[in-house]
Amino acid sequence: MDIKIVKDKLAGGQAAFELIKAGMAHGAQVLGLATGSTPISLYEAMCQSDLDFSQMVSMNLDEYVGLTPDNDQSYHYFMNEHLFSKKPFKASYVPDGANPDTDAAAAAYEKLLAEHPIDIQILGIGRNGHIGFNEPGSDLDGKTQKVALTQSTIDANSRFFADEKDVPRFAISMGIGSIMKGKEIILIAYGADKADAIKETVEGPVTTHVPASALQNHDNVILILDEAAASKLS
Ligand code: F6R
Repeated sequence: MDIKIVKDKLAGGQAAFELIKAGMAHGAQVLGLATGSTPISLYEAMCQSDLDFSQMVSMNLDEYVGLTPDNDQSYHYFMNEHLFSKKPFKASYVPDGANPDTDAAAAAYEKLLAEHPIDIQILGIGRNGHIGFNEPGSDLDGKTQKVALTQSTIDANSRFFADEKDVPRFAISMGIGSIMKGKEIILIAYGADKADAIKETVEGPVTTHVPASALQNHDNVILILDEAAASKLS
């Protein structure tokens, strides 16, 4: 894994943007995208740039089960707000969390991934080491599927909801196996509350207890970290 330490979120967003720009110059056509607070500065850098994404395809990592795209807590909505409304892509896919048949929605998404193999995958990381919504204990070879959120993730995400009870308990997420198929993976982390997860990801054993540790088995991963997130690395 390559590690790049940046001063702050602004510099991290810019660094990730430069990697995407370089990848596109070398023919990247499909971006794997994440939600949450971490990639916001990257999306700002993309929106402020004059780079054209209208021939690109995007595949998002995950979506809450039960939320329609017009729900302002859905990840569809988040992506429209932060990126797609300002920088349209040729096609932008997010798992269909509104489909009551979650198995069918997951299988349909895995088929889309096969049709649009991801060139550059953007990831954030949970405090418990999750990537996508693959919580500790997830199969490291897993495909897109319905997953249950852990209490730690529900607590972390409750900051976006009026009440903790409103946080959906399930999501449809690309599996770790699906994520590992990305040709290049850029994992971004900011803040001291990510430092333990980053240490385990980089220096710990590859284990289902820390889903991001699977990235040790990928040969093209770059971590963009601020000093606080990198502070426990030896
Ligand atoms: C979001 C996602 C999650 C987040 C992670 C970190 O699509 O898949 O894995 O990347 O929960 O969230 P933030 O960036 O809000 O700290």
